[in-house]
Amino acid sequence: MVIYDNVILVTGAALRVGRAIALALARDGARIVVHYNRSRKDAFRTVRELESIGTEAYLVQADQTRPADVRRAVAMAVKRFGRIDVLVNSAAIFESTPFQRVTATDWDRHLNANLKGPFFFSQAVAPGMRRRRRGKIINVSDVAGLKPYSGYIPYCAAKAGLLNCTQALAKVLAPHVQVNAICPGSVLWSEHGSATQRRLVTQKTLLKRLGTPEDVAAAVRFLIENDYITGTTIVVDGGRLLY
Ligand SMILES: NC(=O)c1ccc[n+]([C@@H]2O[C@H](COP(=O)([O-])OP(=O)(O)OC[C@H]3O[C@@H](n4cnc5c(N)ncnc54)[C@H](OP(=O)(O)O)[C@@H]3O)[C@@H](O)[C@H]2O)c1
Repeated sequence: MVIYDNVILVTGAALRVGRAIALALARDGARIVVHYNRSRKDAFRTVRELESIGTEAYLVQADQTRPADVRRAVAMAVKRFGRIDVLVNSAAIFESTPFQRVTATDWDRHLNANLKGPFFFSQAVAPGMRRRRRGKIINVSDVAGLKPYSGYIPYCAAKAGLLNCTQALAKVLAPHVQVNAICPGSVLWSEHGSATQRRLVTQKTLLKRLGTPEDVAAAVRFLIENDYITGTTIVVDGGRLLY
């Protein structure tokens, strides 16, 4: 697919990595549906930035742990643009959950937001894509879905589940819709992370540097442009997995 031809819904696009993906695709000429949950002001700012690039952007709100919210947001976007060609599932939560303190609520929160959320967004966009015999779904997982961090078991398990879900959706939605995943390593440091942690994580990459949100956006762009890849994962981690 050429990117400029598409309507692309990016979840969690108010801030950080989702925002960077939306901006990169807008620069390539795509029309963007900006999804947010709570960051309303930032989402409006992203829309204004997208419009200043010269593209059309539309804002939708949804708590992706609520399937009805997700269906409503997708329906509004389809009403606005007539279709969604590409879904990028970037929204997620990432919370420290030390093993002995993990609660059932921690599990529910991570599975609901990071696994069920992308699934229900996919379920909502799929009928239109199937009807038009054309579409792509890109799930942003994490390298920790392949090699878990010990203090984040519910997060890692949800991201591992998302990789399996990606393969299942690729089978269900074949042959006209391609579904793939991206596993970033550290590309945007959390405001809660210390300088020491940052140094340690950097050391654990082969390339001796953290990535950038634009590195993830470049992988998204590649998956949109390539029409013969489905059910697979691109790791964007500077060699962290091999370290
Ligand atoms: N940052 C990294 O270095 C890194 C590394 C590996 C993987 N990843 C993955 O890359 C993606 C983007 O990373 P990020 O750091 O930009 O993520 P983030 O800042 O932690 O979260 C992105 C957005 O997810 C949205 N979100 C959270 N819970 C939601 C819910 N219940 N319903 C709807 N939206 C919800 C939030 O939207 P609102 O603010 O509008 O509420 C938030 O702004 C995530 O999937 C993450 O796991 C990131």
